[in-house]
Amino acid sequence: MTTVLGIESSCDETAAAIVRGDATAGCGEILSNIVFDQMDLHAAYGGVVPEIAARAHAEKLDVAVAQALGKAAVSLRDVDAIAVTTGPGLIGGLVAGIACAQGLSLGSGVPLVAVNHLEGHALTPRLTDGLAYPYLMLLVSGGHCLFLIVRGPGQHERIGTTIDDAPGEAFDKVAKLLDLGFPGGPRVEAIAKEGDPERFALPRPLMDRPGCDVSFSGLKTAVRLVRDDLVAKGGMTDGDIADLCAGFQAATRAVLVGKSKRAMAQFREVFPDIERTGFAIAGGVAANGSLRAGLETLAGQERFETVFPPLNLCTDNGAMIAWAGLERFAAGLHGDLVPKPRFPIASNPMHGVWTGKRGAKV
Ligand code: KG4
Ligand code: ZN
Repeated sequence: MTTVLGIESSCDETAAAIVRGDATAGCGEILSNIVFDQMDLHAAYGGVVPEIAARAHAEKLDVAVAQALGKAAVSLRDVDAIAVTTGPGLIGGLVAGIACAQGLSLGSGVPLVAVNHLEGHALTPRLTDGLAYPYLMLLVSGGHCLFLIVRGPGQHERIGTTIDDAPGEAFDKVAKLLDLGFPGGPRVEAIAKEGDPERFALPRPLMDRPGCDVSFSGLKTAVRLVRDDLVAKGGMTDGDIADLCAGFQAATRAVLVGKSKRAMAQFREVFPDIERTGFAIAGGVAANGSLRAGLETLAGQERFETVFPPLNLCTDNGAMIAWAGLERFAAGLHGDLVPKPRFPIASNPMHGVWTGKRGAKV
């Protein structure tokens, strides 16, 4: 059994956890999982403010680590490795997390393992459900949208991503457009329940193009245009807002379910002999009940078994970093302790649209 301390501070959660497990068997136990979110600090701005996030991480990282060790009733001497997120993420938070991990390692002699935040999400279904390699993964959060074939630690093939906004980002922006508050996802979902998803004809971006890439910025603009039109005609009623939320959610679901079907077909091309396999869905948007139901139905038709890790392990946390660190440590993949705001998870080359001015984003 290996015991790992995981430290996460790449966005707006300051988190530390202790996980004990066996990488070969693909099973682990979470001994503690401490998460301090910064929701209150950023709420007034309608999004994460990097400077505020970095200060809050610096303030709380040592507390998170102390609580994680205390709750797990282990001392640093019992820990085999310290895993820390080195990217992708906001530079201030990454630097704070790495400095904290380096200090702990220097004082204790426990080795460090660098973890890609996205790999933390991607390997979580092994920690929670013991999912066997290889499996298909859909990561849908406020910052990312990725279809991955996951074969092992450090072995990920990206078969689709967003060419602009992430789905959670689109939910948040739509909520902002309609004055519903932040974070937008849960509010849009709650209001959509009262609405008619077919009243407004909203686009299904990129569904007319082959492949698994997705796009949400045009959909968000379409919502804005409908809103502007309603406002110009005298204002929006609660019914209008509900219909618009329902239409937006239905379009997002149609795109993600449609592209998931293609991702499943691609997985089958790579592994034609595997009869039943896992389809894991993680990230904050995986909380959306309508999306979940759509993906469950599709998976049933395509002979994939859905795995939705529990929500507190889908959103950012230290246990996922500890687990990914545990698998990497067992495989001898220590990585380099360099903060990388951009840190592609996959080794396969990317073409044009996936690459920003300063290189690959994810
Ligand atoms: O994974 P996450 O906690 O943070 C990162 O992005 O790393 O995801 C947060 C995102 C937010 O954009 C939030 O609006 C979205 O997940 N979200 C939802 C729901 N709950 C959270 N989106 C749609 N429906 C939901 N129920
Ligand atoms: Zn995340």
